[in-house]
Amino acid sequence: MKYRVMELITCVLLMASFVNYGIAGSSCPPEEYISPWFCIKTSSSTQNFYTIVVCNRPECKDHLYRVDGAAGHLVLDKVIITGITNNDTDKDWNLKLPSRWLLMSRVRELEIRDTTLSDCFLCNNPFQEQDQYLKKLVFSNCSLKGKLCNECTTTIKKLVTTTTTTTTRRPRQYGFYSRNINHFPRSTSPEPKYEYTKIANGIRMNGLTNAKSLESLDLSFNAIEEINSNAFPPEVSSLKILVLSHNNISVISSAAFTTLTSLSELDLSHNKLANLSRNIFDSPDSKLEVLNLNWNRISVLQENMFSLMLALKKVNIAHNFLQYIPSATWRQELGVIQTIDLSGNFLICDCDIKWILANETEITGLCSAPWKFAYQPVKRAAATLIC
Ligand SMILES: *[C@@H]1O[C@H](CO)[C@@H](O)[C@H](O)[C@H]1NC(C)=O
Ligand SMILES: *[C@@H]1O[C@H](CO)[C@@H](O)[C@H](O)[C@H]1NC(C)=O
Ligand SMILES: *[C@@H]1O[C@H](CO)[C@@H](O)[C@H](O)[C@H]1NC(C)=O
Ligand SMILES: *[C@@H]1O[C@H](CO)[C@@H](O)[C@H](O)[C@H]1NC(C)=O
Ligand SMILES: *[C@@H]1O[C@H](CO)[C@@H](O)[C@H](O)[C@H]1NC(C)=O
Repeated sequence: MKYRVMELITCVLLMASFVNYGIAGSSCPPEEYISPWFCIKTSSSTQNFYTIVVCNRPECKDHLYRVDGAAGHLVLDKVIITGITNNDTDKDWNLKLPSRWLLMSRVRELEIRDTTLSDCFLCNNPFQEQDQYLKKLVFSNCSLKGKLCNECTTTIKKLVTTTTTTTTRRPRQYGFYSRNINHFPRSTSPEPKYEYTKIANGIRMNGLTNAKSLESLDLSFNAIEEINSNAFPPEVSSLKILVLSHNNISVISSAAFTTLTSLSELDLSHNKLANLSRNIFDSPDSKLEVLNLNWNRISVLQENMFSLMLALKKVNIAHNFLQYIPSATWRQELGVIQTIDLSGNFLICDCDIKWILANETEITGLCSAPWKFAYQPVKRAAATLIC
């Protein structure tokens, strides 16, 4: 009884704090209400309260609902989960965010790091009620593997083993019969039957449908290999920043990012991309400003790669295998793109790069060949070239 009264009082006090501090985070609930979580209240430059709730050990897995204390009704600036790692190969153990999680509170940022997440970690619709709040999500170093997709269903065809009533004599010496197939006893068994089943495999993003205010999503340091078409649900159309760096991505399907109609910054650095198609984005694309492709395996860019990218300001494509800076690829957008980072490529500085002098675009990168221009900045080489 006494406990209930305390709960009620806390609840009222916390609700009062909403009124006092407007959009700022709530006061921390008493420690015993949220343990094994703990709460830190700090101030930041933009608000006097900044409330962070943290859980950083494996026990948290069984106490996810305690994040908002017994009373709930908290406004949490940041929820952090780290260190829930699965040590063996039992995939069922991997963390899934529970359904109706955080229902009692409102959360602005959720960060999960160094934790083994199930590829169905968003399947239970954990962000119900957060659609006006959740701005930033981080799932970094969480062992996410395979393809990133929205629905993720694939149809598999399976042979249904039909029991037949007819008996066929089995040849004893398989080798003899197989030499002349016509001697093989005719089977009167029915046509083979197949069963089609839909299975879901992949890191399912459809759990983001409630994150309608999401502006930033970080999926770095995982083992994502592939991005499917329309990998993100259309409801996350307010997403501005997407970080997919330090993964294992080699395939990006067409229209992969077209549902993200506000995307202005895409980080695909430190992956295994060898080629990239213009059609992964909308055309025209008037939102994308920064494209980071550093540390991939790109040797050639398609001629139309930057066509109708009306807002593109910065392209980082350092540490790839580019040799040429063809005007056909780059020139059409000059005057829009402000900086191009080509350092750490194997650039050949011949007369074909002379065109880069025509514009103000800042191009960083050193020549690799011919020898007399080796280690010279491309712009300086272009200026000294006599063609
Ligand atoms: C996994 O191993 C680490 C270190 O060996 C240990 O601290 C942690 O509790 C283990 N986690 C689980 C879920 O067993
Ligand atoms: C990823 O998490 C593991 C523990 O699960 C840690 O040892 C490792 O340093 C982390 N890596 C990065 C890049 O943060
Ligand atoms: C990365 O992908 C390749 C296949 O493209 C696979 O062989 C390799 O094991 C993957 N690496 C990791 C760390 O998952
Ligand atoms: C990309 O490269 C892979 C092999 O590295 C190739 O199979 C594929 O056809 C290429 N795609 C495009 C669009 O060029
Ligand atoms: C870049 O070059 C084009 C023509 O080649 C020109 O129209 C444009 O004004 C130039 N932009 C800048 C910033 O120099």
